[in-house]
Amino acid sequence: MNDSFLDNVDRGKQTLLIVEDDVGLQSQLRWHYEEYNVIVADNRTDALAALRRERPSVVLQDLGLPPDDEGVEEGFATLQEALVLDPNLKVIVVTGHADFDNAVRAVSMGAYDFYQKPVNTEVLDLIVQRAFQMAQLEQELRKQQEAASSPLQGIIASNPAMVKVCRSVEKLAPTNVTTLLLGESGTGKEVFARAIHALSEFSDNAFVAINCAAVPETLIESELFGYEKGAFTGANKQTLGKIETAQGGTLFLDEIGDMPLPAQAKLLRFLQERVIERVGGRKEISVDVRVVCATNKNLEQMVKDNTFREDLYYRISEIVVDIPPLRERQGDKILLARFVLEKFAKEHEKKINDFTPAAATAIEAYDWPGNIRELENKIKRAVIMSEGKKIDTGDLGLNEDNELSINLKTVRQNAERGAIRTALAIADGNMSACAKLLGITRPTLYDLMGKHGLNNE
Ligand SMILES: Nc1ncnc2c1ncn2[C@@H]1O[C@H](COP(=O)(O)OP(=O)(O)OP(=O)(O)O)[C@@H](O)[C@H]1O
Ligand SMILES: [Mg+2]
Repeated sequence: MNDSFLDNVDRGKQTLLIVEDDVGLQSQLRWHYEEYNVIVADNRTDALAALRRERPSVVLQDLGLPPDDEGVEEGFATLQEALVLDPNLKVIVVTGHADFDNAVRAVSMGAYDFYQKPVNTEVLDLIVQRAFQMAQLEQELRKQQEAASSPLQGIIASNPAMVKVCRSVEKLAPTNVTTLLLGESGTGKEVFARAIHALSEFSDNAFVAINCAAVPETLIESELFGYEKGAFTGANKQTLGKIETAQGGTLFLDEIGDMPLPAQAKLLRFLQERVIERVGGRKEISVDVRVVCATNKNLEQMVKDNTFREDLYYRISEIVVDIPPLRERQGDKILLARFVLEKFAKEHEKKINDFTPAAATAIEAYDWPGNIRELENKIKRAVIMSEGKKIDTGDLGLNEDNELSINLKTVRQNAERGAIRTALAIADGNMSACAKLLGITRPTLYDLMGKHGLNNE
């Protein structure tokens, strides 16, 4: 092994592997590439060992390597094995003068680029720098894609807050704690409830959902607990309730904030004792289910207002998972949009594969008050209506005003206009007071108001 192999290792720098048997060129390059953590290998075996050990992202490789210094076969063999070891490796192949055929052959085998001797370090520098940049970009992209394909099936989440939600769901799913999912309408509460079920020891049995807001108050008890034949008029056969149907599985109490108080009392008893009595029945039946609840209501406030039982609240909120609204999930909007687009395009057999840049920007800028459900609806409509290959802002029913202003000048101007408006409101139209609030002179205030067209307000 080359004795220069392990020296000069600096973990803070990017690692460049130079595979070159010419000792003079070795030291020239090593000296020249001081800014990198340079590792030198002069044959195939050492090069591959260095790859395994140091994991460089860029390799500068001579094609003429011993024992075939004059030929290229040893060089090609090295290239091939290196790419098997790390398919993402950026290999820059150094060929002999005017040796185009081998350069092309190397690139077609997967080399990132080629360089022809004699070495002009200025040009080579550019190629090496670009290779590192490319390697880094690709690595970031792979990371994003990994994060986006969460182990929770069908759940798109790359935003850090959402990744955290996914991790907690993965952790709590195998336990039997009663879980409360909080989130605005359309944020994915049911999706997560199903994910909890799928990852739990109850997954072999049913996932039974009951929407407490959709069942009339008079029926909720029999929906939950079932009834015996003859329990009330119309009860002409014994019927199991949702709780019993979920036996051994998961009971999802959706919109639990909408459950009427009498039913809350009965539900509490079930949660404490894990037994039910069918309406009109006398026998206690024990039921073993995992309970997951969800609501978009503020239960703590409801407890204060005496519209939700405090004891029930504590019983169902052993673990609370807060699902952030879509507007707070920077980066996820467009990922979700692409995911949904692909789904609907397939469903409707349309060859639409992306959004125009303006549409993508509008998607990131829009607040999505209806969250993912709204996103789905808008994209579904766009897929049906669109005639092009890409979905445009208009197809989505979003207007261009929603475009994200990341232009610093625009951001500053908007902030300035906002501050003046606020100050005007506070000062109730008194110009001196307003200028004072803003820390500017009255003439400057007039100028700014003119600039922002606020004179008439
Ligand atoms: N992270 C996600 N990745 C992919 N699709 C999602 C995600 N979250 C939600 N969805 C989809 O968005 C839609 C709304 O989700 P879901 O029904 O779970 O929301 P919800 O919070 O229960 O809404 P609501 O309060 O309206 O009942 C569903 O079609 C669901 O498949
Ligand atoms: Mg729901």
